Amino acid sequence: MTRPADAALRLGVLASGRGSNLQAILDASAAPGFPARVAIVVSDRERAQALDRARAHAVPVVWLNPKDFGERAAYDAALTGVLAARGVGLVCLAGFMRILGPAFVRAWAGRVLNIHPALLPAFPGLAAQRQALEYGVKVAGATVHFVDEGVDTGPIVLQASVPVHPDDTEDSLSARILVEEHRLYPEAIRLFAEGRLTITGRRVLVR
Ligand code: GAR
Repeated sequence: MTRPADAALRLGVLASGRGSNLQAILDASAAPGFPARVAIVVSDRERAQALDRARAHAVPVVWLNPKDFGERAAYDAALTGVLAARGVGLVCLAGFMRILGPAFVRAWAGRVLNIHPALLPAFPGLAAQRQALEYGVKVAGATVHFVDEGVDTGPIVLQASVPVHPDDTEDSLSARILVEEHRLYPEAIRLFAEGRLTITGRRVLVR
């Protein structure tokens, strides 16, 4: 299935920091025929580099400051408001360092993707690359998955592996994984936008 450009799936990207995955998505969506485009970027951090990257592509940005909201549910409701107002059809977490509460996850069920720098279910949570090095695995990688109510536990869409070298540092391993992240995330978005993903229990069928 291909969509005309004006019917592209509208993405809401949530990011807290550097925004290199956002950049990969922005670059992919600039290519002719890509079936999605970034409609809004939301950050919980005012100075996130991701916001500058969005502005450079003339993509609207919103900073939602957690300090302005008493509890997680209020923050998440505001987030839903921002995304819905922009007609977002798929939410992409790209280095978004807040956990989304159950109400948000239920409201957007099957419409939220996350990227994680590990071969899940190994090494969920923070500092996945450091966890992998400390564990001593020989193969690491990246995972794009649907978001459920757990931390990095949702149905897996795509994974890619990289070798771990004996002299790797957290930085060198992270850089090797990041190359795969930047390839995987736009590909997963394309598959979603083309209607080629079906979630059945824990499994994602890719057509
Ligand atoms: C990426 O490596 C992403 O996989 C990771 O944060 C980094 C964000 O980089 N996400 C997580 O660890 C989520 N648990 P970026 O801001 O340059 O895209």
